[in-house]
Amino acid sequence: MSSSYSIATIPGDGIGKEVIPAGREVMEALAAASGGALHFTFEDFGWGGDWYRAHGEMMPADGLEALRGKDAILFGSAGDPHIPDHITLWGLRLKICQGFDQYANVRPTRILPGIDGPLKRCAPGQLDWVIVRENSEGEYAGVGGRVHQGHPIEAATDVSMMTRAGVERIMRFAFNLARSRPRKLLTVVTKSNAQRHAMVMWDEIALQISKEFPDVAWDKELVDACTARMVNRPASLDTIVATNLHADILSDLAAALAGSLGIAPTGNIDPERRYPSMFEPIHGSAFDIMGKGLANPVGTFWSVVMLLEHLGEAEAARQVMEAVEHVTANPSLHTRDLGGSATTEQVTRAVCEHIAGTRQRLAA
Ligand code: IPM
Ligand code: MG
Repeated sequence: MSSSYSIATIPGDGIGKEVIPAGREVMEALAAASGGALHFTFEDFGWGGDWYRAHGEMMPADGLEALRGKDAILFGSAGDPHIPDHITLWGLRLKICQGFDQYANVRPTRILPGIDGPLKRCAPGQLDWVIVRENSEGEYAGVGGRVHQGHPIEAATDVSMMTRAGVERIMRFAFNLARSRPRKLLTVVTKSNAQRHAMVMWDEIALQISKEFPDVAWDKELVDACTARMVNRPASLDTIVATNLHADILSDLAAALAGSLGIAPTGNIDPERRYPSMFEPIHGSAFDIMGKGLANPVGTFWSVVMLLEHLGEAEAARQVMEAVEHVTANPSLHTRDLGGSATTEQVTRAVCEHIAGTRQRLAA
């Protein structure tokens, strides 16, 4: 049986233009190694900072329509030193996340073989987390305003908007994900000691949804205490659910504790599959190293793994992850963020060769 998928690639800005072609190469190597079982067609969209300079917008007004029919989106990064961050973010990445109601942002973290993490007392296997980030509202709802701009009485608000439906669906998603993992353990991150409205509702809804999952053990942790727990007792955590901003911060800490931001992947997922989901490395555009071939493509490759899992291609996903772990285990294939001197191209070639070799090994 043969499966064919149509994939949108959006390199975006900075090193996105280097790592997304690398991700595509790996998917092509995978298709080649599948002996016809797996087929991808790619359509590339050149949206981002350059598009903004040429057209005055980060993506065309009908851009979502062009993506709607795709099976998945592989995204690089949005961010340009010459364009305000809120424009690059709201004009592209958030436009897609919110337009396609990709309300579950999933961020797995593990210490991969060969990677030296900063936690000296933590055996690699003790750090194995998935952070579930509420991805559609909360602190990123975009609700707020400014008045009296430039005057001494200027005032501004950013309102964190939480809805019962929004919290219920992310809690249900997180409990389900926790249930699918061996430890069946969920930590609900909150700040209801200081924020006494939305975060209290968040806690109440967590308790309510937990009743649907009697087989999942769960606890509650304040976000500040959670940072300390991630450092001091990493093995006490497994699946973690948090608000949009809390999870944004916790996931950078998680990535750093796992050795490098260059490795961390994410999926912006529409669990109901009404729209395509979008997969991306979380490292950002990294303009300081762009165009030099130094970017670590592993975050993109792991994002490809998540993309394949989302498409139901579990065996293909496993094959790519195995190739990635084979490569990270070899320090001579570490990029600069990991203390090595390998280039994007060398890492990509090694992963592709391992994937090609899998087929030969199977055939032998
Ligand atoms: C992330 C990033 C973004 C976010 C930035 C680029 C706005 O930090 O995906 O974690 O905060 O959502
Ligand atoms: Mg972030």
